[in-house]
Amino acid sequence: MPLNILVTGANGQMGNELRSVLASKTAQIGPVPTDYHDARVTFAGAQELNIADAQAVERFVGNGGFDLIFNCAAYTDVDGCETNQERAYAVNAEGPRNLARAAQRTKAALVHLSTDYVFAGDNPMPRIESDPCEPQSIYGKSKLLGEQAVAQECERHFIVRSAWLYGSAGKNFVKTIMERARSTGEIKVVNDQHGNPTTANDLSYTLLKLALCSEYGIYHCTNNGVCTWFDFASAIVDGANIPCTKLPCSTDEFPRPAKRPAYSMLDNARLRATIGDEMRPWQDALTDYLAHLKGAFV
Ligand SMILES: NC(=O)c1ccc[n+]([C@@H]2O[C@H](COP(=O)([O-])OP(=O)(O)OC[C@H]3O[C@@H](n4cnc5c(N)ncnc54)[C@H](OP(=O)(O)O)[C@@H]3O)[C@@H](O)[C@H]2O)c1
Repeated sequence: MPLNILVTGANGQMGNELRSVLASKTAQIGPVPTDYHDARVTFAGAQELNIADAQAVERFVGNGGFDLIFNCAAYTDVDGCETNQERAYAVNAEGPRNLARAAQRTKAALVHLSTDYVFAGDNPMPRIESDPCEPQSIYGKSKLLGEQAVAQECERHFIVRSAWLYGSAGKNFVKTIMERARSTGEIKVVNDQHGNPTTANDLSYTLLKLALCSEYGIYHCTNNGVCTWFDFASAIVDGANIPCTKLPCSTDEFPRPAKRPAYSMLDNARLRATIGDEMRPWQDALTDYLAHLKGAFV
């Protein structure tokens, strides 16, 4: 029987990337497993399925007969979550709970995306899956509650924490930095927050592989290697050959409503121990991304 799959939040960055990887049957780091080649995939954007609406989720999933659900839906505006807390908890905590309950009832597996922001970010060592969580922002707190709900409600769950994501569709840090460097000839970027830039393409590949195994639980999945936002921005303008002045600055110079972690590096320990960690160094992934961007848009 061909796999029957639901992708929620289908019009966001990850939803779009999964769509294109599934359609082309290949990602930049490898082919999509053959199990997906004849899969029936329902891509539901927020208009088609509001995951915060428990009854709508019950109906949609109940009628769908899905084997596998990828939850790419989330309220990802980190500063917006501070001012719109009700929405943050509805979408990032109750939404995953609704999906997890429906998945459990219909015997589907659930792949749920989460974030490095569930950690306090005050420890310069990369975090593994079992490290204690202590989110510092409403976004992080709401995402952690979502993780806990998924783990409680659905036996066949994969909670995949990623970080600093950039994909082909929509706006992201890479495109913003390129635009700013081209239009102003200068970039000023924080140099005291550390993390793992990750392409949505590599993450999609790993999600698809992971979902076929039965080692349920929490996974970290980022491109390998650590840098600051300033390092990342410098690599972007250098890789894209955009001459500009690069100015490092501190977080204090850029006050934001939500506290950002100083260290939010993730260690893909559980991937290494299970299906293998095929995520590339972030520099290689960025080079590939910029080459594709040039071909597609520039
Ligand atoms: N972006 C990152 O750097 C990053 C880092 C670590 C982890 N993650 C996690 O990765 C996942 C995917 O992130 P992303 O970058 O693809 O986010 P994204 O581009 O913001 O996409 C999220 C999608 O969810 C939709 N959505 C919002 N509320 C919804 C609801 N109530 N019901 C259904 N859909 C809803 C949004 O639609 P509208 O735009 O119409 O509201 C949007 O299309 C999220 O779980 C996020 O927490 C992201």
